[in-house]
Amino acid sequence: MGLILFELLDIEQKYVQGELPVNVFKNLKFKIDKPKNIGIIGPSGSGKTSLLNIIGLIEKPKSGKYFYKNLNCLLFNNIEKTEFRKKNIGYIFQNNQLLEDFTVQENIALPLILNGESYKTACKKALSFLKLFGLENRIKFKPGLLSGGEQQRVAVARAMIKKPLILLADEPTGSLDDITAEIVFKNITDLSKKNNTLTIIATHNIKFISKLDVCYKIDRGQLIEI
Ligand SMILES: Nc1ncnc2c1ncn2[C@@H]1O[C@H](COP(=O)(O)OP(=O)(O)OP(=O)(O)O)[C@@H](O)[C@H]1O
Ligand SMILES: [Mg+2]
Repeated sequence: MGLILFELLDIEQKYVQGELPVNVFKNLKFKIDKPKNIGIIGPSGSGKTSLLNIIGLIEKPKSGKYFYKNLNCLLFNNIEKTEFRKKNIGYIFQNNQLLEDFTVQENIALPLILNGESYKTACKKALSFLKLFGLENRIKFKPGLLSGGEQQRVAVARAMIKKPLILLADEPTGSLDDITAEIVFKNITDLSKKNNTLTIIATHNIKFISKLDVCYKIDRGQLIEI
């Protein structure tokens, strides 16, 4: 048996909306042997965000198991969960979730500061990421003053700055024009390779799928390799 880096086993997730049950996942399985760039596609409402939230330990499924290496992640208590996220997970949220009280540079620097780097070093590293994403003239802006696409690029930079073991990207180019989307997508996939990151990208952009190592679609609550 080969080594397994990451595994979801028999994940079941459902919600109740009023009287109506919404079954999102049933016996979902997802096994990955080594860091790679992975795509997740599926129509709106199929469960892409729910899946990333489960992997990011933001949502707990109704049942199932989640292993990262030898860690049994669904058994973590709240402190262990926070620690795992802080150290290992970068998340580009579908709605960016930038912090309004901080500048663009501070938003990007924050994951490093939370992991113990000095404010000065973290801001210096943030600056190089700002340049990479074409935002060097926005460093002192508060996120609310940025365009949607600029905010999205800040969210991408913030998720990548700490070289996470797992990068979760929920429609990371959804607010960008074609050319910028291509640049950002390339930055994400190239940096993931360089840093040995397991990157999982939910996307509607079929053009990008061929540039990933493997792609799955969500179909009737399960993942099918395509
Ligand atoms: N907290 C919740 N409570 C109730 N229902 C939920 C909750 N979160 C998600 N759902 C439902 O689960 C289904 C999957 O939602 P999810 O956000 O994962 O879809 P998605 O594939 O990311 O869609 P999109 O492409 O529009 O972002 C939807 O039908 C949604 O209404
Ligand atoms: Mg979604």
